[in-house]
Amino acid sequence: MHSSISRLFTLSLTCATLVESNPRILRVAHQERGILTLGFDPSNEPGESLQLLSTTQAGYRPGWLHAIGNRLYSISRTHFPNDSFVDAGIFKFEKLPNGLSEIIDSTSSHGEGGVHLDTSRDGRTLASTNIDGSTVSLFPLGCSGDIHNASYTFQYNLTQPGPGTGHSQIQSNPHAAVFHPSEDLMFVPDRGADRMYIYDVSNTQDVTLLRNMTLLPGTGPRHLIIPDLGNEQSLLFLLGELDNTVYVYSLGFSHPDTLSRGGANETLQVALLQSISTLSRDGPRTEPINEDLAGELELSADHKFLYVSNRNAVSAEQLDTLAIYSVDLSSSTPLQFLGLNSTHGKIPRHFSLSSDDQNRYVAVANQVTNDLVVMERNAHTGFLGRVVGNFTFGPLDLTTDKGPMAVIWD
Ligand SMILES: *[C@@H]1O[C@H](CO)[C@@H](O)[C@H](O)[C@H]1NC(C)=O
Ligand SMILES: *[C@@H]1O[C@H](CO)[C@@H](O)[C@H](O)[C@H]1NC(C)=O
Ligand SMILES: *[C@@H]1O[C@H](CO)[C@@H](O)[C@H](O)[C@H]1NC(C)=O
Ligand SMILES: *[C@@H]1O[C@H](CO)[C@@H](O)[C@H](O)[C@H]1NC(C)=O
Ligand SMILES: *[C@@H]1O[C@H](CO)[C@@H](O)[C@H](O)[C@H]1NC(C)=O
Ligand SMILES: *[C@@H]1O[C@H](CO)[C@@H](O)[C@H](O)[C@H]1NC(C)=O
Ligand SMILES: *[C@@H]1O[C@H](CO)[C@@H](O)[C@H](O)[C@H]1NC(C)=O
Repeated sequence: MHSSISRLFTLSLTCATLVESNPRILRVAHQERGILTLGFDPSNEPGESLQLLSTTQAGYRPGWLHAIGNRLYSISRTHFPNDSFVDAGIFKFEKLPNGLSEIIDSTSSHGEGGVHLDTSRDGRTLASTNIDGSTVSLFPLGCSGDIHNASYTFQYNLTQPGPGTGHSQIQSNPHAAVFHPSEDLMFVPDRGADRMYIYDVSNTQDVTLLRNMTLLPGTGPRHLIIPDLGNEQSLLFLLGELDNTVYVYSLGFSHPDTLSRGGANETLQVALLQSISTLSRDGPRTEPINEDLAGELELSADHKFLYVSNRNAVSAEQLDTLAIYSVDLSSSTPLQFLGLNSTHGKIPRHFSLSSDDQNRYVAVANQVTNDLVVMERNAHTGFLGRVVGNFTFGPLDLTTDKGPMAVIWD
């Protein structure tokens, strides 16, 4: 399954359409208001550069957005299809030529607490993650992206509570299910259980668990990214929400031409290269006491910089930050902490680099200040510059169940 011939074969079977990026359109999942489409014109003043173009209702408390080609998917938190149910709902949108979008399909996510969606590298499988129901569901997708009945719903279990305070580690909390960009693997970080599960997804009728990695107690693994390096060696960046630490793993495939079933397990090697604080240079892992809660991570398109959002849940006055690292993919310690820049708001649950090659802008969804802030990004230093867009969705919301959850660029 790892040879370049089989990869070409697989790619030729895909039916995802490529569309050009449009760094002038942003989509926001807002818990109270729905899925918002905003236009961005940086030639206008920061207070006027973002304009709301449309609003689409997509279930109770939308929490995540995933785009593939011309299609857009969102997941709502719970109450799908109505108040009599607790499952999350998955919604499929079609982007319209005028930049707007409309819902054309929806289905239950088979678990409460929808927080994440991703699609497999061939665009034919959708994974949804339900943090409160402790499940991940897989859905085959038709050629037009229509959602078929779930093929799997994996249930996660906790053997014993973790050290995280409050409700952070009293049950299994899968927080994402992420597909490898060039191998048939899927990774599920479980924030409640301090685990990462790795699946072989080469046969969508027979998805098998390959590994069950135990992480340090109190890590709280939340999200991860695997850059597409186009070769057999790859790196995985895992974000610990509770210990505010980025873990860098190398993923190696020692027998790339193994085609037999289960072969991936014998040849997949996962090794920890580095762990590094999101809060300060050479800072320690934090205790899992919910004061700081790392939110999201993203790599620049040129693979030179990594960004992580820091959410401080204690201080209401102090604005939150993005941590910026330089990245050297060929080093055995790929990350170097460069510094912090303000997100000009509180609780940056999610952010996105703009979709142009240079990633000229960074859009941040600040959940508690209930706003969207767009900043310039310096592609040479990696640091953020001035605010060029500022859109308020509603009043400050300390409950965190009203404001924006995710933002992506077309
Ligand atoms: C909720 O949805 C179910 C299934 O579609 C339907 O049977 C039921 O009548 C709905 N209940 C309400 C209160 O709308
Ligand atoms: C999908 O699930 C629904 C409801 O359980 C069922 O009626 C339908 O036959 C299923 N479709 C397929 C293709 O299995
Ligand atoms: C969790 O428990 C259920 C029920 O016993 C079991 O079917 C499932 O495989 C378990 N999940 C994992 C990831 O071990
Ligand atoms: C995969 O390999 C690991 C480590 O060698 C082993 O513990 C696990 O049982 C294997 N899983 C399968 C499905 O073969
Ligand atoms: C993962 O490993 C733990 C500890 O080794 C074990 O208790 C648990 O059952 C395993 N889960 C799966 C799905 O293999
Ligand atoms: C955003 O706009 C509001 C209202 O004009 C203003 O009070 C706030 O300071 C602005 N924030 C930033 C980061 O520019
Ligand atoms: C971002 O952080 C760098 C390093 O501390 C600093 O030089 C730069 O001025 C900051 N950007 C803004 C907009 O404050």
